Amino acid sequence: MERTLTILKPDCVRKQVIGAVIDKMEKAGFRIVAMKKTRLTPETAGEFYAVHRERPFFGELVEFMSSGPCVPMILEKENAVADFRTLIGATDPAEAADGTIRKLFADSKGENIVHGSDSAENAAAEAAFFFSTEESVRVN
Ligand code: RTP
Ligand code: MG
Repeated sequence: MERTLTILKPDCVRKQVIGAVIDKMEKAGFRIVAMKKTRLTPETAGEFYAVHRERPFFGELVEFMSSGPCVPMILEKENAVADFRTLIGATDPAEAADGTIRKLFADSKGENIVHGSDSAENAAAEAAFFFSTEESVRVN
């Protein structure tokens, strides 16, 4: 079993498609290990996406990610990191495959509904960013 960290981004919450997006995840075989609603500040959003600090879109990304509540989740499945990125599709919904979460729900490359960890190592660090050890215990 492997874990990945996702965030239902502020556009997902605003569009009221949290349930529809989680349904796709569960139907694809992901188990929910941890989930909460929270709100990032510009500081914590910048810390989470620190790897992109020098990129031209960083300011926009921080502004968007702190623009409203979001829903971070730890998901578990065999091959979770790669399979989840397949499920969500390309960063830009215009380039995402049919049936993927970003193709179905996202409006633009910047506002693209969900985050997905890009490695198991980053997934563990990102999970610890949002959840305590007690909150990350699997239930079934
Ligand atoms: P994520 O980290 O959120 O799962 O997305 P990703 O791996 O598919 O894409 P990444 O390159 O890590 O970019 C992180 C987030 O920054 C925003 N972005 N905007 N306007 C742009 O050109 C642009 N490029 C990236 C997106 O919200 C992207 O998900
Ligand atoms: Mg990324």
